[in-house]
Amino acid sequence: MNQRAPVTIFIPGDASAVSVGADAVAAALARECQARGLSVRIVRNGSRGLYWLEPLIEVKTVAGRIAYGPVRAADVPSLLDAGLLDGGLHALRLGDIESHEWLRSQQRLTAARVGVVDPADLDDYIRHGGYAGLSAALALAPQDIVRAVTESGLRGRGGAAFPTGIKWQTVHDQPPTQKYIACNADEGDSGTFSDRMLMEGDPFVLIEGMTIAGLAVGATQGYIYLRVEYPHAARALAKALQVARERGYLGRNVRDSGRDFDIALRLGAGAYICGEETSMLESLEGRRGDVRVRPPLPAIKGLFGQPTVVNNVVTLATVPVILARGSAFYRDFGMGKSRGTIPLQLAGNVKRGGLVERAFGLTVNQLVYDYGGGTATGRPVRAVQIGGPLGAYLPESQFDTPLDYEALASKDALLGHGGVVVFDNSTDMARMARYALEFCAIESCGKCTPCRVGSTRGVELVDRMLASLNGARAGDIALLNELCDTMANGSLCGLGGMTPFPVRSALKHFSEDFH
Ligand SMILES: Cc1cc2nc3c(=O)[nH]c(=O)nc-3n(C[C@H](O)[C@H](O)[C@H](O)COP(=O)(O)O)c2cc1C
Ligand code: SF4
Repeated sequence: MNQRAPVTIFIPGDASAVSVGADAVAAALARECQARGLSVRIVRNGSRGLYWLEPLIEVKTVAGRIAYGPVRAADVPSLLDAGLLDGGLHALRLGDIESHEWLRSQQRLTAARVGVVDPADLDDYIRHGGYAGLSAALALAPQDIVRAVTESGLRGRGGAAFPTGIKWQTVHDQPPTQKYIACNADEGDSGTFSDRMLMEGDPFVLIEGMTIAGLAVGATQGYIYLRVEYPHAARALAKALQVARERGYLGRNVRDSGRDFDIALRLGAGAYICGEETSMLESLEGRRGDVRVRPPLPAIKGLFGQPTVVNNVVTLATVPVILARGSAFYRDFGMGKSRGTIPLQLAGNVKRGGLVERAFGLTVNQLVYDYGGGTATGRPVRAVQIGGPLGAYLPESQFDTPLDYEALASKDALLGHGGVVVFDNSTDMARMARYALEFCAIESCGKCTPCRVGSTRGVELVDRMLASLNGARAGDIALLNELCDTMANGSLCGLGGMTPFPVRSALKHFSEDFH
């Protein structure tokens, strides 16, 4: 009979880890330990974000959390033979995960607990510093909470980088009425996954951030608008919302403060445009996700016509650390007007993809080579696309650009939600420009002509260039540039307005592909 206390083993329940076999590993480990009479406690945590090593499992030992990866179900017997439960030696052993170079060099503030805690365990969250931000906020007047966020320099991480404190101040200043916090968890950008990782790996931090936002602006109801393609996040959030409610962190009289705040979860239906904030509000209200004309701003007339804070998951999940550790602490990270840290998401044709949270200012070179290790194919990198499908392509000659809002803007690029997708030198950039236009044509809500018609004409134009045996005609390039001008200047929202970024950057930096 084994007298040992159960050994804790962490196996990510994160969707990416599951997609490469984490569930099978968890099942194999439970089965094999039972057969051997070994007592283990399996915790399905989030991913640490070292995705090339998933499924990455960790064993809690006196020497720290010893990691192994990538583990397949078939590796389980040999791992146990090697003394897995004591952190024994094995070909897959990675050592103490906290000292892994990929993690050690990061500055994790927003994603500090992702991959560390049990996402379903509120006490674990609190043990790791959770709800310290709410405690601090409850001791402050609403205006002082708003001031703390303003002074932190936090800007929206959903794409537009608008100062969060200013948005909150506008909602705070509206007359007392029903106000809302609407969390944008649509995360439609290609190559992005930081919202998902947070919601799956540390859902309480989003709930805490939304609660603080509610206290700050006088909102009693929040909504999380979650893309339907994230079932794992939906389950993690539903569980965390239930626990928070049962324990008095949500609902009436939050933490005996005399203040009410609750959150409802709503699922989208798979439209990229529903990530645009006014379209998201339409969808939340039960209508087709058409873009609304602004003004009025959602902060003044938003959900159900009431003042509404619309913020991205990462933005809201960053608020607790600001309240807990102070705005000056957060502000000290970053450069220029880009303060704090950003969870960058490295994806595409890259050797080591995953989550890298660092202060603003890391260069593209550092991200792609130091963290990413170059391309997965081993071929030279040709370009990166930053900021989702509407982001610009950067050529290698610009890889010394710091990942910061203003530095990228000076290169006619944008940081967006922080997704960086790597392409090798086999990529045809004219086809990528065509893809951007086609994406816009498919996802356009159809409300305005430059986007609805322009995107389709753009696809036809690039097709004509690609089909021409004699190379693109000079007139076609000029016409494509003119079309981009019309879309950028005449579109009602960012879908049509930003599609010119990938098209123009491909034309500018990779013009040879159009001939
Ligand atoms: C076409 C389009 C899609 C967008 N998709 C998202 C999205 O998936 N998630 C998100 O947070 N913001 C998205 N945005 C930005 C939102 O409109 C809005 O700026 C953001 O939710 C505000 O939150 P933040 O200030 O915290 O960034 C999108 C914008 C456009 C134009
Ligand atoms: S730019 Fe496109 S998506 Fe945006 S409102 Fe116009 S038609 Fe709709």
